[in-house]
Amino acid sequence: MIFNPLETHQEGTEKTYEVVVRPIVVENRITSKKTLPDSSDSKYEAFHPGELWLDDQGQHINAHGGGILFYEGKYYWFGEHKSANTSRALVGVRCYSSKDLYNWKNEGIALSVEKNDTLSPITLGCTIERPKVIFNKKTKKFIMYFHLELKGQGYSAAQVGIATSNTITGPYAFVKSLRPNKGEWPMNMTESQRKFKATPEDFDKWWTPEWMLAIKDGLFVRRDLKTGQMSRDMTLFVDEDDKAYHIYSSEENLTIHIAELTDDYLNYTGKYVRIFPGGHNEAPALFKKEGKYYLITSGCTGWNPNAARSAVASSVWGPWVPIGNPCRGEKSEFTFESQSTYILPVFGDESTFIFMADRWNPKCHIDGRYVWLSINFENSKPLIEWKKEWKLKD
Ligand code: GAL
Repeated sequence: MIFNPLETHQEGTEKTYEVVVRPIVVENRITSKKTLPDSSDSKYEAFHPGELWLDDQGQHINAHGGGILFYEGKYYWFGEHKSANTSRALVGVRCYSSKDLYNWKNEGIALSVEKNDTLSPITLGCTIERPKVIFNKKTKKFIMYFHLELKGQGYSAAQVGIATSNTITGPYAFVKSLRPNKGEWPMNMTESQRKFKATPEDFDKWWTPEWMLAIKDGLFVRRDLKTGQMSRDMTLFVDEDDKAYHIYSSEENLTIHIAELTDDYLNYTGKYVRIFPGGHNEAPALFKKEGKYYLITSGCTGWNPNAARSAVASSVWGPWVPIGNPCRGEKSEFTFESQSTYILPVFGDESTFIFMADRWNPKCHIDGRYVWLSINFENSKPLIEWKKEWKLKD
């Protein structure tokens, strides 16, 4: 695609782009009727992975790195509102609703960046990624967690942000941002690992065998014990007993942590485990099927796709057993040019899970596409195959 810079957009220092060939980006929105099935009356009747996906207003859905909550008969999709030429948050988290998962209504901005308060952690120009919303049955509140990077600090803050609302579509009120599990040891770090004296400064170079051993022994967990553990790519998972977990890339993206939340879902209980220390996993997505927990992640190559990985466990605390790349077929070594964000259990059909992934477009972030594919099972392992077009009952 060819993009022509047009003019400076009013939001921050954004530039607006016009796309010379379709899709068309106007005022930071993308429109094109081209991908709608020819015979349709503007209604989708199938998924079209990787294509433009228009909402009820004819705009490409702007909910990247997203997740879905099913509530009172409708699906609600929350995701990063991206702009054309920056991935920084100039708007916030957007919400869409749907009854059939194909056709989505724009429900507006669920969480807005702070336009006037430059001291707020979610001030305009911060980075808000991978938002997920869960419902707390006891408090009747909707709770949003997201990866937060502070304005002007690149990806060094590595925090989680928490916001709540009494209504599903928002507006969500920002509660706090933090690094999880300050002062707490992971349950699966041994007494001797907790006492090791090595510090990151003892190593001149990363990636040496000695350094990797030290990582596995919790070098960065010890470094960050007092401040809380780093938290970047993330998801949330609510189990059948209503316990909720925050799953995030920690330790400089080297190790996944799974941390239990308190009953109100607003704090950490201090119980957490490290998964695949030094395994360099990002983009975690977790689901449960017939009593087993499955985790799908990616490797760490920024916006570029890589091969997905999967793992299975009988308890959320592990042990987690790696079971390989769940994708099969052409481009499966690049997750069909996408990166996982969420796995949606389709309500009413306990055997249908949708693998939701992002096909990022760092040249024009707003034009990032969504790759949704069904998860099948073969030999008790998740299997994801490419489909150009598919329906829930296929
Ligand atoms: C990816 C990550 C995205 C975003 C990106 C920035 O690896 O999954 O959510 O953080 O890096 O380069």
